[in-house]
Amino acid sequence: MGILKIIGIVLAIIMVAAAGVWLFSLSGSYAAETLKPDGAVTGKALIIYDPGLSGNTKNVASSMANDLKAKGYEVVLAGPKSSDASKLSGYSILMVGSPTYGGKPSGTINSYLEGLNLPENITVGVYSTGGTDNNDSNQFMADILKKSSVRVEVSEKFGSSADKVEYSNFVSQILT
Ligand SMILES: Cc1cc2nc3c(=O)[nH]c(=O)nc-3n(C[C@H](O)[C@H](O)[C@H](O)COP(=O)(O)O)c2cc1C
Repeated sequence: MGILKIIGIVLAIIMVAAAGVWLFSLSGSYAAETLKPDGAVTGKALIIYDPGLSGNTKNVASSMANDLKAKGYEVVLAGPKSSDASKLSGYSILMVGSPTYGGKPSGTINSYLEGLNLPENITVGVYSTGGTDNNDSNQFMADILKKSSVRVEVSEKFGSSADKVEYSNFVSQILT
């Protein structure tokens, strides 16, 4: 087999794999689920996350959602392209999470934040996940909202060594 043929086959495999990952991620952008607390509902929270490529951002969102649920919140956990993502009335808390690509949030989250039209009295927190925990992508997200005069209560980037304690602290900060 010629070298060009081998290169062609390898490139085709890479393209099919990349398309698969992209489609998987896109389908997650339209997903939504609701978590209800065991007892009385004390509030409603919306968590919008970019499902990303490897699941980190969604895992952080799920951890925060379970934490809020344990505190009596009904939580809607949704992708930025789901119909739930644009229905913002009735929530007291909005959290938005994104992976970091090249120091910035994903294009999907960028567009979502730019198009947000928030009701009054909603507390907003943004987080990003990344290889490092330097403040870059999360700051970028907060800056988009500040341009629309939205007050961002908590903004944090979780590096690869972040754990549930840090996600829980984020939730506690947004609740105080
Ligand atoms: C193409 C690419 C670019 C990345 N760029 C950065 C970066 O600039 N800074 C950073 O901290 N992490 C970077 N990362 C790491 C991801 O942000 C990190 O693994 C994130 O948690 C992935 O989230 P996900 O599992 O939801 O896709 C990059 C990852 C990829 C695949």
